[in-house]
Amino acid sequence: MKLEDVKKIAVIGSGAMGNGIAQVCAMAGLKAVMVDIKQEFVDKGMATVNKSLDFLVSKGKLTAEKKAEVMGNLSTSLSNAEAVKDAQVIIEAVPEIMSLKKTVCAEISAAAPADALIASNTSTMSISEIATAGKNPERILGMHFFNPAPVMKGVEVIYAKQTTDANVDLLCELTKKIGKVPIKVLKDSPGFIVNRIGAPNQALISAILDDGKLKTDSIDTIMKAMAGMPMGPFELADYVGIDVFYHTLKYYSETLSPEFKPGKVLQNLLDSKKLGMKTGQGIYTWEGGKAKIDASEQSKDIGPMDFLAIQINEAVRVFKEKIAASAADIDLGMVHCMRAFAGPFTLGAGMEPSQLADTLNKLHTRFGLKIFKPEPEIVDGSFKTMK
Ligand code: CAA
Repeated sequence: MKLEDVKKIAVIGSGAMGNGIAQVCAMAGLKAVMVDIKQEFVDKGMATVNKSLDFLVSKGKLTAEKKAEVMGNLSTSLSNAEAVKDAQVIIEAVPEIMSLKKTVCAEISAAAPADALIASNTSTMSISEIATAGKNPERILGMHFFNPAPVMKGVEVIYAKQTTDANVDLLCELTKKIGKVPIKVLKDSPGFIVNRIGAPNQALISAILDDGKLKTDSIDTIMKAMAGMPMGPFELADYVGIDVFYHTLKYYSETLSPEFKPGKVLQNLLDSKKLGMKTGQGIYTWEGGKAKIDASEQSKDIGPMDFLAIQINEAVRVFKEKIAASAADIDLGMVHCMRAFAGPFTLGAGMEPSQLADTLNKLHTRFGLKIFKPEPEIVDGSFKTMK
């Protein structure tokens, strides 16, 4: 199959990611069908896209005619088999439950054309394991969008064990066609590149919440002011969803290290359905899509240096494990998928190795987590030669 042959995309799942992905495809002139298990779910997905396009019209970024054209490219279905039978690319964005992903993969790979690409939008899980349930696994791969999909530029394109180079290349071409920047992930490993680099920072967030002595508001405020992040780390956890945040940590605790186990505060938030923005309450109270954060103070304790040192350390591990093709690709991923102003290797190049190592050793001692210990290449500064 060639890029010109791709005319119709089927998106399985109409939740936050699914409807955002369908919007992006429809805006690029492709037909996109959004599938879910209940009419009310697809209706909600369509309403979200409609609202999102209205926002772009109100900002003068889209004309009313173009909006009508985009809406005309979209349709909905309650049947996976029906939706995929004439699709060239299928993107699965169902909840992050391995058994569900496998069931969906089996169903769509049986009903889709034999050469249709089948991509999972999983943010952490093994694509190779999902692919064991599907027919023709050489066309099964990962296509990981970031939230909100219409805004975030980067998309990770992930090799599963049996994916062919040609299929990865085709999906990278398609990613460019829909206005995104593809980041190739060479090894199917938990969290891939970008979320993996964020994983120990998630563990730090959980440890800070359990410690209970530090004000999340003041940490988020300094992160936005000094590290140029659009959202602070606690605010982002609420924005992505405490359930998603919790489940990714749990997955890392089962696959990377038991130290990623979500802490008590996250457990309590999950149990009491305080899931962040979507429920109006999480670490913060949310109103009108914004977290109520007291920005009057900036943390003098934990701050940008801590989060950055952890990120650079994990980026070194991602490099050594050959998950990415190069240090430049890792940086590209962090810039386009997280809207960071620069990637970990670029930022690390200007820093003293001893300062990074000291910061990491202090975090290791303070929170008792070995995942914060500096890699040898941080200590001797040789990470700066990683290309
Ligand atoms: N469609 C297209 N563009 C849109 C849009 C939409 N629905 N909604 C907003 N935008 C554009 C706006 O036009 C605006 O563009 P300009 O800067 O060019 O004007 C930009 O996005 C910002 O929008 P707003 O001004 O309305 O809103 P904001 O400034 O409050 O930003 C935000 C909101 C984009 C969510 C921002 O806070 C942000 O980037 N947060 C960080 C998000 C992030 O890090 N996501 C990654 C999460 S991790 C993840 O996703 C991993 C996973 O696997 C779960």
